[in-house]
Amino acid sequence: MPEQPVAAKSGAPAPGSSSAGAPRHVAIIMDGNGRWAQRRGLPRAAGHREGVQALKRTVEAAGNAGVECLTVFGFSTENWSRPADEVSDLMGLVRAYVTSDLARLKKAGVRVKVLGRRTGVPADIVRMIEGAEADTAANNRFLLQVAFNYGGRADILDAAEDHAQRRLAGDAAPLTEAAFSTGLASAGSPELDLIIRTSGERRLSNFLLWEAAYAELVFQDILWPDYGAEPLAQAIGEFQQRQRRYGGRLAEPAMARA
Ligand code: IPE
Ligand code: IPE
Ligand code: MG
Repeated sequence: MPEQPVAAKSGAPAPGSSSAGAPRHVAIIMDGNGRWAQRRGLPRAAGHREGVQALKRTVEAAGNAGVECLTVFGFSTENWSRPADEVSDLMGLVRAYVTSDLARLKKAGVRVKVLGRRTGVPADIVRMIEGAEADTAANNRFLLQVAFNYGGRADILDAAEDHAQRRLAGDAAPLTEAAFSTGLASAGSPELDLIIRTSGERRLSNFLLWEAAYAELVFQDILWPDYGAEPLAQAIGEFQQRQRRYGGRLAEPAMARA
């Protein structure tokens, strides 16, 4: 029998309550494309191309597993520091992914949102992103959030700036966690339950810093281009073994009276 929670912090889900079912919101740091290619003596671009196939498999598998929202890290604010040809390959892949997969996503009832700053992103990609968001805005079977030109710190700064502007405009509403969250790129998505990182690295690399507060973390050694339904099921299985306490306590078995 699962232990029962004794107290829940106000505003937080009951401790231990939500790990039994499928996570509602899963985020993935899709890492290891370069190493996948390197091990095969292929250019890194080949790893990124295979990574797109893994993304397609994983979106489908997440929907089948009962996940409501998947957030994937596609390109970080720090990834601009890679050599220009790799950056350009990655931009090309975004174009290819949107062009080849948008119709299928739309038909499958997937709503697409892109998290991240638009500044610095090539204008045609910005138009594609806006088109994909508008085209799928009415869908509600599954939410796919693609973090692109995204950094957790930049996102928090943008939310702070947003709040400061509202204050200057005379909005005196107190700053609460809930109010602040509405300025984040992920506003409106379910509370983040699980973060997966592939490739064996054990860090967040500036992904969803605010949202990660009480997410469970699962690190898998598999390289991203090899990902799909089976490793996702393993990660969800591990999540389901976790006890989420949110700072509260789980009840100890009642002491027998002497
Ligand atoms: C992840 O794979 C994709 C992006 C960061 C865009 P990497 O390109 O980081 O692959 P590794 O970490 O070098 O193997
Ligand atoms: C994180 O992976 C970014 C994405 C997966 C898009 P990186 O490969 O860029 O992260 P570091 O450099 O290993 O921290
Ligand atoms: Mg990497």
